Amino acid sequence: MCNNCNSDEMINNFVDEEIDLSPLKPVIEKYGQVKGSLINILQATQDIYGYLPLRALNYVADNTPNKKSTIYGVATFYTQFRLKPIGKFLILQCQGTACHVNGSKEVSQAICEELKIKPGDTTTDGLFTIEDVNCLGCCSLAPVMMINGEAYGNLTPSEAVNIIRNLAKEADK
Ligand code: FES
Repeated sequence: MCNNCNSDEMINNFVDEEIDLSPLKPVIEKYGQVKGSLINILQATQDIYGYLPLRALNYVADNTPNKKSTIYGVATFYTQFRLKPIGKFLILQCQGTACHVNGSKEVSQAICEELKIKPGDTTTDGLFTIEDVNCLGCCSLAPVMMINGEAYGNLTPSEAVNIIRNLAKEADK
């Protein structure tokens, strides 16, 4: 991690948009003064907003002993943290070994072609975000994807595309 990073330069990594900071208050109350708890705070922040918004990071800096440069550094260093807003549906595509040998690559390719984005991106309508993950913990169902916490297993490329089309239809109603 970069210890000499200038927080003014790092600010460009984050999205500055209007957010409701009230859900963050209990997190700060719980962890704010606990030494070594920055990762927990950032994980809880991401659980609330789906990513790490700049205003939330600044709120953490203002209400804990952590400096902005440290917070920005941790947020950008760990791949578990998202720096951009996610879509309504977060698709976690498993690329772990069990899924890989059972065709996750083809499933992923079909999903990316359907949505015209690559892993890490969000569709322009804000509906879908795709992320690759290493194991979703249900290898017996390989290949698996998880959408907003629900696991879909034994997928074929066309099944995965159908699931996504159905979600898009539902969202359109
Ligand atoms: S490898 Fe995909 S769920 Fe474990």
